[in-house]
Amino acid sequence: MINDGTFEYLCHIRRKIHQWPEPAFQEAKTAETVSVALSRLSIWHKTGVGKTGVVARLETTPSGPTIAIRADMDALPVEEKTGLPFSSRVSGYMHACGHDGHIAMLIGAAMLLKESPPEGNVVFIFQPAEEGGGGARAMIEAGVLDGVDMIFGGHIDMHFPVGSIAIRQYMDTSYTDSLEIRIIGKGGHAARPHETVDAVVVGAQIVTLLQSIVSRSVDPLNPTVVSIGSFHAGTAYNAIADEAVLRGTIRCTDKRTRDIVIEKIKKTAASVSSLHGADVYVSIHEGYPPVMNHPEGYRIAKEAAKEVIGEDGVIILTQPSMGGEDFAYYLEHIPGCFVRFGAHNSLHKFVPTHSSNFDFDEEVIRVGAAFYAEVVKKAVEVLKHRNVRV
Ligand code: NI
Repeated sequence: MINDGTFEYLCHIRRKIHQWPEPAFQEAKTAETVSVALSRLSIWHKTGVGKTGVVARLETTPSGPTIAIRADMDALPVEEKTGLPFSSRVSGYMHACGHDGHIAMLIGAAMLLKESPPEGNVVFIFQPAEEGGGGARAMIEAGVLDGVDMIFGGHIDMHFPVGSIAIRQYMDTSYTDSLEIRIIGKGGHAARPHETVDAVVVGAQIVTLLQSIVSRSVDPLNPTVVSIGSFHAGTAYNAIADEAVLRGTIRCTDKRTRDIVIEKIKKTAASVSSLHGADVYVSIHEGYPPVMNHPEGYRIAKEAAKEVIGEDGVIILTQPSMGGEDFAYYLEHIPGCFVRFGAHNSLHKFVPTHSSNFDFDEEVIRVGAAFYAEVVKKAVEVLKHRNVRV
């Protein structure tokens, strides 16, 4: 377990990174902080991997199994309003998703594993661009999974109390696709609407009708979301807008539902536009695939969590998250498991991730570091008795 002195050091790293948030593929200062911490531990590492990522290796038994653990490093374009003494010093950017905590956890795990090495090898992946940039793919293309037998990762989660770890077998996150609907009408004077094709009215009807896709076309037992997050149209109160652009997200937990939802969105947009004589262009941008936890990775992660926080702290999830996570790409190549670290303290009021008021209980760093060190050891124990890769 992490002692108080080490915990203080890890919190110091977290706060330093928190003050200097960097967006996707620009994590240069963050990578430098990681590199300095790894150098202090005399752990071999390389920067500039997958553009701004860092990969480190602890080789203690070259012939033994190799286990990877991963943290993400990017911040969000959110203006911080927490008022914390270590608030963001970069206008317009904030670590509002806890990735600063994830980095501190992995450095903590490196300290523990360096002190008490497993009979195998550890690869530490500090990846850029999780928030929509697909940094995991860049790291995989750079070869970080070469020779790796199993991988583990996790995310801070404010839905669970600090000191708990939540795990789900098989699917842990959903398909995340984004959509854009561009409506081309005909502008004109707001006093003479009969001479125009009002893109605002067409857009508003599309938004309303999209709400019935989930309620009427999808099996209620399949969690699904269609949300429009932005609607832009018009420039003046007395002019009919000639164009409207809607942007949103689609979250599905199975492939068939995803196909149905995409088809219905296209049909809805086309039908409403045709009714009003507007032109419409729908584009769907494929997002991350779901995180699919491997059965053996799940078992090992559950055992490690039990060891670190006790059986009562382990929460077995029955439903996947509707969020997305590019850890999914690693699991498309090798087995492993993704977990959620409870970070909600009863003294804090609940603030969701991606909020400008987001903060978490730093005790989660202690839990995460201990979990990662333990899960590596447990995975090495399971895999070292096998000569073949799983
Ligand atoms: Ni995140």
